[in-house]
Amino acid sequence: MVSVSDLDFDQWAEALRSRFEDNAQKALPVGDGPLGTLCEAMRYAVLGGGKRVRALLVYGAGLVTDAPIKALDETALAVEYVHAYSLVHDDLPCMDNDTLRRGKPTAHVKFGEAQAMLAGDSLQPEAFERLAQTELSDAQINALTFCLARASGLRGMCGGQMIDLSSVGRKIDIDTLRRMHELKTGALIGASVRMGALCGNPRLYELVQEALEDFSAAMGLAFQVVDDILDVTADTAVLGKTAGKDLAADKPTYVSLLGLEQARALASQCEERALGALERIENCSDIEKTTCRRLRELARYVIGRNH
Ligand code: IPE
Ligand code: IPE
Ligand code: MG
Ligand code: MG
Ligand code: MG
Repeated sequence: MVSVSDLDFDQWAEALRSRFEDNAQKALPVGDGPLGTLCEAMRYAVLGGGKRVRALLVYGAGLVTDAPIKALDETALAVEYVHAYSLVHDDLPCMDNDTLRRGKPTAHVKFGEAQAMLAGDSLQPEAFERLAQTELSDAQINALTFCLARASGLRGMCGGQMIDLSSVGRKIDIDTLRRMHELKTGALIGASVRMGALCGNPRLYELVQEALEDFSAAMGLAFQVVDDILDVTADTAVLGKTAGKDLAADKPTYVSLLGLEQARALASQCEERALGALERIENCSDIEKTTCRRLRELARYVIGRNH
């Protein structure tokens, strides 16, 4: 494992991004004929872009419970596959109808709609295959599987996307908006943290579980609040996706409901809550002080990011 103390955050994140990219290059399938095209679309959706925040959260949380790096590698692939699938479907004409993602044409623009749908559909089970092959106890694999399934479907990302779609052009109250964000984005962000920690020592996991859930909830909400802010404040070139889409599509967001200032204030509150939760973890007697360092840096990065 890239050790905790000798790299600054940017170096640590870059090292793990490139480790993730290598792993994904090797793990993603290749094929011939029509299946080859499907493999190509799956690879296009995952490789060569993205901040890899969910993968970094897996690695960061794994440090807290002393998880083996190989299990974290598989888990990082699994969560990023589900995330990539969610983006491919989110961009489809029947959803957000976006043509730019990670600075490249969206998957359906490049491969066609049906092909993009199938690439997303195929990435999802591929994620669960990674988990099934992980060298951990059966109980851990079970817990990881449940966690990813829960975060992806009706009670997680898909449920949130449904609320999102049904809110277009409507005024929704702040509680509904919060619920939408918690589900469509927070669930998978939270699962990344939980799953990274689940890969490690079960006794340590139990000790930190409650505070880690609090950290995850704050980070999950903050992530989508910042995404809403960036849609208004950032340039398309920096974002790698078309800016100003939420307003154009009449989507309710934290910015449209509260205004920019209050949305920013909420993101800061989330950061404080996340950092407070990490302090509680560091105060547990059996937890090494330095093990939360990367999660703390990730909290700051997620709130302060410019894309
Ligand atoms: C974008 O996620 C979609 C949301 C859930 C807000 P990211 O901002 O993590 O996208 P990539 O992976 O870096 O492209
Ligand atoms: C998407 O939210 C959340 C997903 C589950 C993919 P957005 O629709 O705001 O994400 P972007 O802005 O297109 O990346
Ligand atoms: Mg969307
Ligand atoms: Mg979108
Ligand atoms: Mg957005």
